[in-house]
Parts: sequence; structure tokens; C-alpha cells
Amino acid sequence: MIVGFAGAGNMAGAIARGIARGQQPPVMLFTDSGSGRAQQLADEVGGERVEMLEELADRSDVVVLAVKPAGLDAVAPRIAGRAGAVVSVLGATPLAKLEAALSPTPVLRTMPNIAVEIGSGIVCHAPTPAGVPEIDAFLEILAGLGSVVEVPEQQLDAATAVMGCAPAYIALAAGAIADAGVEAGLEPGLSARLVREAIEGVGRHLAELEPAPMQVAIASPGGSTEAGLEALAEREVAAAFAAAVGASLERMEGKR
Ligand SMILES: NC(=O)c1ccc[n+]([C@@H]2O[C@H](COP(=O)([O-])OP(=O)(O)OC[C@H]3O[C@@H](n4cnc5c(N)ncnc54)[C@H](OP(=O)(O)O)[C@@H]3O)[C@@H](O)[C@H]2O)c1
Repeated sequence: MIVGFAGAGNMAGAIARGIARGQQPPVMLFTDSGSGRAQQLADEVGGERVEMLEELADRSDVVVLAVKPAGLDAVAPRIAGRAGAVVSVLGATPLAKLEAALSPTPVLRTMPNIAVEIGSGIVCHAPTPAGVPEIDAFLEILAGLGSVVEVPEQQLDAATAVMGCAPAYIALAAGAIADAGVEAGLEPGLSARLVREAIEGVGRHLAELEPAPMQVAIASPGGSTEAGLEALAEREVAAAFAAAVGASLERMEGKR
């Protein structure tokens, strides 16, 4: 299996590093638009930089399309009809647009989050085109990077808002809580570690306990957690998170 990356930026790097952690990673090829990131990534994960998109596509079973959405029109004609299949990670770019640009090459529309880099990611994808062994094989590779979840294509943007964008909101909360811990006297490294490990635990625990009962279980009446939740409610933090998801969706829909 040969996987070519059209683009060697943040998301291509996260996927490639995640794949490179596996037992028998496929051969990986990389290209960029001249920044040198393709060579750096190839050196880091043990792949090869390829100069031209056409060569990359000709040599690849699957091309991971990992340029900015605005780059689709420039890149698609140079890979269409060459690779066995294209797997797009382009945000807010509908399957119909991808298929029109890349025909006759079969396309899978996906949305990974950045934690694929450490094997703890989520990859949402639109329904898989039937009878494309390259895509089936690549989905097996993606399964090694975390959860792979099929969603109806029209729900991919909403899924992106909660699994692609929301980790940044949680990182913001983690930073703010850790800073508050430092203000309260904790050494910065310890504060950051305690917050990080608490978040890891919550993530696992939420698989067994819904968010509302979890709050009840932690916040005993009259206790310190209750006081903190009241302070968050006074500042309408739940509404702020809802607004953040809404704003991300609006940006994807071109309304913002
Ligand atoms: N970042 C995320 O967390 C995330 C999450 C989910 C999905 N995505 C999606 O992933 C895609 C890439 O995002 P990113 O954050 O990785 O962007 P990025 O860091 O800017 O990377 C884009 C890459 O595309 C390359 N490129 C642009 N035009 C090219 C061309 N004509 N030929 C070859 N390579 C070309 C760039 O080359 P240079 O290096 O030379 O500039 C760069 O390596 C976007 O569509 C985004 O919606 C990103």
C-alpha cells in the first residue's frame, strides 16, 4: 500500500505521524507547495518527498487530500484519474464538489481530528463508496489512529464542530483552569498535569456516566464543586460553548 499526501501541513503531519506509529506502516509520499514541509515530514516519519502532484498521484494507491479547501481547484485536476482513490480531509467541502473535481477517481470524504497523531483521534467519514478496495484498506489504517465513525454526509459539518473544533475549546478550558491553579499556589507543571489527567479521566468516565449525572455525582450540595458550577452558570459558560459550536458551524457554512 502506498499513501500519498497532497499537502504536508498540520493535518497531513498528524495523520502521517499517527500512521508511522503503527506496526507495519505503508509507504508514505509527501508533497507541498514549496515550503519544505514535505521533506521535513518525510524525514521525520520515514517517507519520501515527491516534487510533483502528478507523480505523487501516479505512485499512490490512496492520495490523502490535505490542502486548504481553497486549494481544491488548483490541486484536483493534477491528481484526478491518477491515484486509486482520494481521501479528503478538507473542511466544509461537500462530497459532490469533491467528486466533480476529482472524477473519475473515487473519493471518501473524511474529517479527522488532530489527536490522530497520538492514536487517540476520531475520524468521521461520509458513507464509503462501494467496491473501492483502496478506500477499504485505508479505513483499516485509519482505525489504528483512533475511532472511525461513519455519519450521514449532511451531518459531517456538525460532527466536525463537536469533534474537530471542540478540542480547541477544551484546550482553552484546560489552560484557564491550570492558570487558576497556579494563581492558587500550584507549581505550573503540576497544575497542568493535574488538569490534563483530570480531563483524561473525565473522557473515559463519560463513556459510563452522562454529563449531567456526572456533575451531580461530583458536586455535593453546599460543596466546593457546586460553588464553582454556580460561578460558571452566572457567566453562562454552557451558552458560551453552544455559541462556539454555532459559530464554527456558521464559518463552515460560509455565513460568518
Ligand atoms: N488542522 C486541523 O486540525 C484540521 C482538522 C481537520 C481537517 N483539516 C483540514 O485539513 C486541511 C489542511 O489543513 P492544515 O491545517 O493541515 O493546513 P496547512 O498546515 O496550511 O497545510 C496545507 C498544506 O497544503 C500544501 N499545499 C497547498 N497547495 C498545494 C499544492 N498546490 N500542491 C501541494 N501542496 C499544496 C501546503 O504546502 P506548503 O507547506 O508549501 O505551504 C501545506 O503543506 C484543510 O482542508 C482543513 O480543513 C484540518
